[in-house]
Amino acid sequence: MPTSLVAVSLEVQARCHPYQVLVGRELLPTVAARVCELSAFRPRARCVVVTDSVVAPLHAEPVLQSLSAAGFRPHLAVFPAGEGSKSMAQAAAVAEELIGHGLDRHGFVVALGGGVVGDLAGFVASIYQRGIPYVQIPTTVVSQVDSAIGGKTGVNTASGKNLLGSFHPPALVLVDVATLATLPEREFNEGFAEIIKHAVIRDRPLMRSILDFRRGDQDALLQIIHRNLEIKAEIVAADEYERLGVRALLNFGHTVGHGIEQAAGYGRMLHGEAISLGMVAAAWLSAERAGLSSGDRDLITQSLRRYGLPTALSPEISTESILNSLRRDKKFESGAVRFVLTPAIGQARLSLPDEVGLEDIRRAIEAIRAPAA
Ligand code: GLY
Repeated sequence: MPTSLVAVSLEVQARCHPYQVLVGRELLPTVAARVCELSAFRPRARCVVVTDSVVAPLHAEPVLQSLSAAGFRPHLAVFPAGEGSKSMAQAAAVAEELIGHGLDRHGFVVALGGGVVGDLAGFVASIYQRGIPYVQIPTTVVSQVDSAIGGKTGVNTASGKNLLGSFHPPALVLVDVATLATLPEREFNEGFAEIIKHAVIRDRPLMRSILDFRRGDQDALLQIIHRNLEIKAEIVAADEYERLGVRALLNFGHTVGHGIEQAAGYGRMLHGEAISLGMVAAAWLSAERAGLSSGDRDLITQSLRRYGLPTALSPEISTESILNSLRRDKKFESGAVRFVLTPAIGQARLSLPDEVGLEDIRRAIEAIRAPAA
């Protein structure tokens, strides 16, 4: 068995229960030992490891083996990889697998995979028999630095992203950076959109580490992931249910980004790629409304390019289709949005009521278009 290294353990101060986030390498074979330490889990409980068709062959085996060896009774539920699976129909199918495996209220779910797996499995855990515990084992950069902690779960509908969901904090999060080694370049890089977002809203020195990082430097990666988890944990602890204007700062780049992602058609653009474009638009508006310097604006664009992320919008995606998606976004209330602006890298604030309207967003979208060839 590989040596497990828990480099750090953070605690997320969630209101219903604080939970640990363990960050290190080769943690997958230790999942059962970690679960046994928690009172939420009963010995010999049935559990379902929910994962997708890409992650299952790569990472399911050590998780299943660890759980079986400790006396738990695991079942593997695999669904097709991709954003298209983040649906009510797929949630119902996963719930049927839990029923079929005989999970009762003492059972638990393990979400093994990227953001789609975590959001879908967490959502099913939150509604199954009115809520059972779940463990998050994120295997992508995006899910490790962002979606696996904070307790947001949900699925998309034809009208928009995450329109159905719940807050259901995990009982435990295992962040094993060794799982990132199998990620294709594009998926690895996509995660840096969220890392750059964290630097922009909270941590200027992190921008330096982002620009200096080279894939393959495992220690630097561990440090970057850990710092991002600290930032996310602090923000979640300050405003878990996104009511106080603190957690909403994590939406930097996501208003326009979600609109672009939906207008492009799910699956055509990776989430982080759409968020990259959203951040370029948010930086443009921040220069207009919040005094962001041209130097900082260029640094944001440069960091995104450093990870091969798009910074100019393709003519194939019309402004109108993005605005139509935006109008259905849950960040909009009565046609108004609290847009996240950055006055300088390391700081962020919500726009004042009436400070940023749809017309401003339209201009920002036009400003990030690639020049005509
Ligand atoms: N990914 C944004 C949040 O967790 O609030």
